[in-house]
Amino acid sequence: MTADRKIDASEPQVGRRGFLTSAAGSLAAAAIGSTAVAGSAEAQSINCAPVSGSVAWKQPGNNRHMLELIKGAPVSQGSVTIDYFGHCAFKITSPAGLTMMFDPWRNDPSGAWGLWFPKEFPRTVVDVCLSTHTHFDHDAIDRVDATSVLDRIIGSWSFSDVKITAVPDKHATDCPGWYKWINVVKEFGGDPYPPNNPGHLDMASFVVETGGMRILIWGDNRADPPEEVWKQWGKIDVLTLPVDGSQHILGYNQGNQIVEQLKPKIVIPTHYLAEGVSATFSTLQTADEWVNAQKNKRKLTSPKLVLDSPSISSMDREFHYFGSQVDHG
Ligand SMILES: [Fe+2]
Repeated sequence: MTADRKIDASEPQVGRRGFLTSAAGSLAAAAIGSTAVAGSAEAQSINCAPVSGSVAWKQPGNNRHMLELIKGAPVSQGSVTIDYFGHCAFKITSPAGLTMMFDPWRNDPSGAWGLWFPKEFPRTVVDVCLSTHTHFDHDAIDRVDATSVLDRIIGSWSFSDVKITAVPDKHATDCPGWYKWINVVKEFGGDPYPPNNPGHLDMASFVVETGGMRILIWGDNRADPPEEVWKQWGKIDVLTLPVDGSQHILGYNQGNQIVEQLKPKIVIPTHYLAEGVSATFSTLQTADEWVNAQKNKRKLTSPKLVLDSPSISSMDREFHYFGSQVDHG
């Protein structure tokens, strides 16, 4: 870690080495969830930063932009802009101009999981902020100045030229990578599998319908959801998928099988190590190897991707890889 990296001083920073010692057991419990072990509430009070409520009252803006959008005519076609903020964070802008930030990241506030992100998530103004699940690398909703926050919703939400359907399922569990992360839950007495999983392993993937496209925000969903989940996802044009070289969430074969099943026009890898965003402590690797093995691929040269329905209509499972092209705010 270099000295010039900016770290959020309000959050405790505990290295992975600390996590692996017995003294960090209570920290791990705090990270896993309050249902994992008895006494975790006490552990949180001792080891964790104080939990605060919403900070939206400090936001400088107001809801004027969304109120203006209500007045506009519905827009069924047009360009959709996808700005990549690293890890699983995307800002998607609809043709009418509604801005949505998905899965802003932060470091684990308990400290148990160490330093994943040397810098804070850039403070960003959007209309809507959404989070797929309560893991730290997806839920920095306090870093986004949003008029509306849709945190792990179930059901549908429509506004202006956007419809979002949240499809509930579960976090990936027995991931094929070297590290068996699911054992963290088991080691502390938790049952990671549905229907008894702790709430932090619940997942809300999002189908975003806008500009004549259906975009699936996969989150960290498991590779083998039940049939009703596939049905709710339906036809997908743009698929985001968490595959990296460490196979932290999904393995290469799992990712390939999902792509084969959904047959999207575009695949966007997520949840990988990106220069300037994530750190070696995360144990993540790049998605280079997975992308290089694909038949159709584009290495993007900008964190901004502009798509419209007619121009992607002839594409077939074409990988669009941001790599380290990230919007830093
Ligand atoms: Fe994650």
